Amino acid sequence: MSQKIKIFDTTLRDGEQSPGCSMNLKEKLEMARQLERLGVDIIEAGFPVSSPDDFESVKQISQTVKNCTVAGLARSVEGDIQRAYDAVKFSESPRVHVFIATSDIHMQYKLKMTREQVVERVAYMVRFARSLCSDIEFSAEDASRSDRDFLVRVFDTAIAAGATTINIPDTTGYATPTEMYDLVFYIKSHLQNPHVDISVHNHDDLGLAVATSLACVKAGATQLECTINGIGERAGNAALEEIVMGIKTRRDYYDAETGIDTKQIYRTSKLLSTITGVPIAPNKSIVGANAFAHESGIHQHGVLANRETYEIMQPEDVGVNKNTMVLGKHSGKHAFADRISELGYRMSEEDIAAAFERFKVLADRKKDITDRDIEALISATAVNDVKQTYSLKSFVINSGTVISATAVVRLVKDGEEFEHVARGEGPIDAAFKAIDRIVKRQTKLENWTIQAVTEGEDALGEAISKITCEGNLVTGRGLSPDILEASIRSYINAINKAIALSGNVKADLSGK
Ligand code: KIV
Ligand code: ZN
Repeated sequence: MSQKIKIFDTTLRDGEQSPGCSMNLKEKLEMARQLERLGVDIIEAGFPVSSPDDFESVKQISQTVKNCTVAGLARSVEGDIQRAYDAVKFSESPRVHVFIATSDIHMQYKLKMTREQVVERVAYMVRFARSLCSDIEFSAEDASRSDRDFLVRVFDTAIAAGATTINIPDTTGYATPTEMYDLVFYIKSHLQNPHVDISVHNHDDLGLAVATSLACVKAGATQLECTINGIGERAGNAALEEIVMGIKTRRDYYDAETGIDTKQIYRTSKLLSTITGVPIAPNKSIVGANAFAHESGIHQHGVLANRETYEIMQPEDVGVNKNTMVLGKHSGKHAFADRISELGYRMSEEDIAAAFERFKVLADRKKDITDRDIEALISATAVNDVKQTYSLKSFVINSGTVISATAVVRLVKDGEEFEHVARGEGPIDAAFKAIDRIVKRQTKLENWTIQAVTEGEDALGEAISKITCEGNLVTGRGLSPDILEASIRSYINAINKAIALSGNVKADLSGK
């Protein structure tokens, strides 16, 4: 029988630590629900002691998610462990994840502790964690650069104190796949009690995180830690979608399986990119726009004759629907709702109605609405459900090589219309400045991207604006066949989100 591999997703913890990937509470909840649909075994929801916001999001994820274990990270100190447990205890399956560094360099310079002190701390803290929670993961940070026999001693101590999973991280992405294979094999065969889950957590500094994780499966690892799209500290973590499809596609080699519903992979990846505003590279394995595109004539000819000539996986396996059936302005709500359900989305009546409204607006301007357009509309509905303090009424932009760009933007707030004119370095700059003059808030544009959702002249443009507005970093999204309109909408969406957030903070403070 093939080995079941547990998938431990740390998108909301290690992933969220990476620059540009921070998410607010609502976005984290949305992501956690999608991870649950994806079928991950464990969601590491955050590092509760790190901030009140992190605590709150781990707590709410624990209360929301029903079919996954929810883990909270803690350093090997009582306060962290207590805080992590207080946040995950609402889960039907809570886990406290305790870690301490075990490499000489970390112990000497970071912890300023001797080996003996580390072992003592592990025994005490894991026992304390276990007194609160029956599911305890213990990680030896920088394990790949630690002394092997010391590592075995630390893990034996953790298991004796009650750890149920031991994690062997390649924290710096330094190890080769073969070295990590050897390390996992060595530890597994030297543990006094090997009847625990053996996990690995590999970083991608040298581009080896997925290869290393897969090598560890061969060595006997039963849990893999990873993130969607491989986001994470520095160069990121092992990408979930690559690990999972590696195991599935080469089941003959790994003799292992995961519980992931692979048809949810594409949508999970897209949702994360939408929420964070971090685009997916077109050549990204599994989820990039070109992952299943065959350009060269020889390849196309081969695939037409027999898909397997060049395709080792089917796009449908990861939820990329190649169905070219299109909807148009005459399609009704029924056809729209049917298509959504065929695409595998489960949405409330209310969300379908909101998405259908957007669909009708789009169908007036774009002849054929493809599955990709519908997916974009759906994620816009899911992520944008925020109070529309400001909405776009109209805009006019003049720009060119011989004039400076000027924008006139008219917004509506509480039924009242506000208009401003601004000049800028280009049309986007002018439009955003005009909006700034209307909303009168301290706003800084951090990043702005635009990309086509589909191909063709009437492709739907998806703009993402990341702004800092009065202390909140927020990501706004706008969709339109007109790229200037998409950009303006994304900026207004970001401002509405920031307003909603600052409103919440005020409400929280006044409630105390
Ligand atoms: O990279 C690492 O070592 C970690 C640990 C906390 C598991 O993220
Ligand atoms: Zn990490």
